[in-house]
Amino acid sequence: MAAGCLSVALLALTAGSGAAQSTIKIGLVMPLTGTLAAPGREVVDAVKLYMTQHGDTVAGKKIQLIVRDDGSVPDNAKRLAQELVVNDHVDFLGAGSTPSSMSMAPISAQAKIPTVVMISGTSVVTARSPYYVRTSFTLGQQSGIMADWAIKNGSKKVVSILSDWAPGDEAGKVFAQHFTKGGGQILETLKVPLANPDFSPFLQRAHDLAPDTLFAFVPAGQAGTLARQFAERGLNKSGIKLIGPGDIVDDDDLPGTGNTLLGVVTAGFYSAAHPSALNKEYVAAYGKATGHRANFISVGGYDGMHLIYAALQKTGGNTNADAVLAAMKGMSWESPRGPISIDPRTRDIVQNVYIRKVQMVNGAPWAVEFETFPDVKDPLKEASAK
Ligand code: PHB
Repeated sequence: MAAGCLSVALLALTAGSGAAQSTIKIGLVMPLTGTLAAPGREVVDAVKLYMTQHGDTVAGKKIQLIVRDDGSVPDNAKRLAQELVVNDHVDFLGAGSTPSSMSMAPISAQAKIPTVVMISGTSVVTARSPYYVRTSFTLGQQSGIMADWAIKNGSKKVVSILSDWAPGDEAGKVFAQHFTKGGGQILETLKVPLANPDFSPFLQRAHDLAPDTLFAFVPAGQAGTLARQFAERGLNKSGIKLIGPGDIVDDDDLPGTGNTLLGVVTAGFYSAAHPSALNKEYVAAYGKATGHRANFISVGGYDGMHLIYAALQKTGGNTNADAVLAAMKGMSWESPRGPISIDPRTRDIVQNVYIRKVQMVNGAPWAVEFETFPDVKDPLKEASAK
């Protein structure tokens, strides 16, 4: 208790040095090792790409990036965020996964540090600090639209396979709400451990239940394993349709999945195949810099950096948290994913959700968009506002 009060007091003293300084520091707390190492790498690569392309000076101030690895452990994220604020005097934080974003939120709130959430896909995260702004996505944003599409296209009986943590719960919950409202039936919901998952027994169980459709959520970094085990169990030849949020056809894994995911339909906010000039440029530059195909996680980092740069341009380099938040709220711009904006009420991202089908293009699998739902808000926040 005493230690908690002390750290809060320290945070209040050290934070918000205001507009006078000539260097602006951005501290990213990302999972560079552990279960979520793939998304952490993707965000940091994209942030660095943004800085290479746009320079490290904004509104006459030098931008300094500090990257810390939370090891995919939320307690580490909290400690690192505190150190970044108290010792390094960062002006901005970048938050990563849902558990780490949750644990860092009190630091952002008490020290008044504008924090861009770059990975988390869970609705509640942005409510945990008034200085949180999200450039990633929510699972609900994609899963409700996926359910509506599935109903419209003849799905009646679904088995869900969900990674067993908050984003999986949310994907499953919003999908089930929409799917049952549309007259569909969820036969069973299977939860797979987040760390080192073996999907095989769950896929076998799903197969045995004989649904017409399998709704799956696995986080970035696990789509390749899911695809391999899906094919090993013969599910790609079973006639059961596989659907899900964009995570299950992650562009980082897709090139290695061969034929196994062909025909899979997902509702996602980003595909490397998005046919805009800006995205073609982005995919080429990201590929050249990293050797990987740009994916849905990377744009959260890239756009997060844009949001910080654009806000600083608007404030003339003033880093006061309330001034920065006022600049960020309602901001809209073109992302590699398409048009996006920050909802001024919720500080959450508003973006298009696309229905995509995996197809071979020039000898490699891509998630090819064929239908667009424009300007989608987080449905759970919209529901609670009513
Ligand atoms: C999250 O931390 O909320 C998260 C991470 C990876 C995903 C989806 C959600 O693919």
